[in-house]
Amino acid sequence: MTTPPLRLFFALPCPEADASAIARWCEALHLPGKRVATGNFHLTLAFLGMQPRGRLPELERMAGELGGTAFELQLDRLGLWPNGLLHLAPSQPPAALLALARSLGEALRDNGFAVERKAFHPHLTLCRHCPEVSLAATPAFAWEVREFALYVSENRPRGVHYRRLAGWALSAA
Ligand code: 2AM
Repeated sequence: MTTPPLRLFFALPCPEADASAIARWCEALHLPGKRVATGNFHLTLAFLGMQPRGRLPELERMAGELGGTAFELQLDRLGLWPNGLLHLAPSQPPAALLALARSLGEALRDNGFAVERKAFHPHLTLCRHCPEVSLAATPAFAWEVREFALYVSENRPRGVHYRRLAGWALSAA
């Protein structure tokens, strides 16, 4: 029997305390749209789409060999894209973040994964299907990024859940 493929992505996990603080901020602002579950907050580095389960060891080996340095991530911008995706973003993406996303994309392509080459717009999605709103709030969230992780997106009865499969430490800057 063949096992179903997995919907995979690499991301920066949002630490629990920061995720709670962001969720409280969203609630206080009554942000419109369909809220992303607090436990699912993350910043995607590379989206792999559906992949056979058998490729997991290869992905884990590849991520383990990647390297990368720790950095502080400041999320100081609230944005809404035309597709209704309301998000937090860094106004100045750290060089170490861009380098990590770039090397991950290159390693994935080198290993035969069909990863899109489109520009990387680092963001943490807060709400989907958000109508046009005026966004006056100025966020000021920051966390020390010391790891990145591989996630599988799973559909559960209560909604989508991003389950962490493995994580890798970034070296001290
Ligand atoms: P989003 O939050 O901007 O929608 C799990 O679905 C994660 O993968 C989310 O962070 C989602 O980004 C991202 N994702 C889903 N489809 C994608 C695609 N086609 N290209 C890039 N990222 C995608």
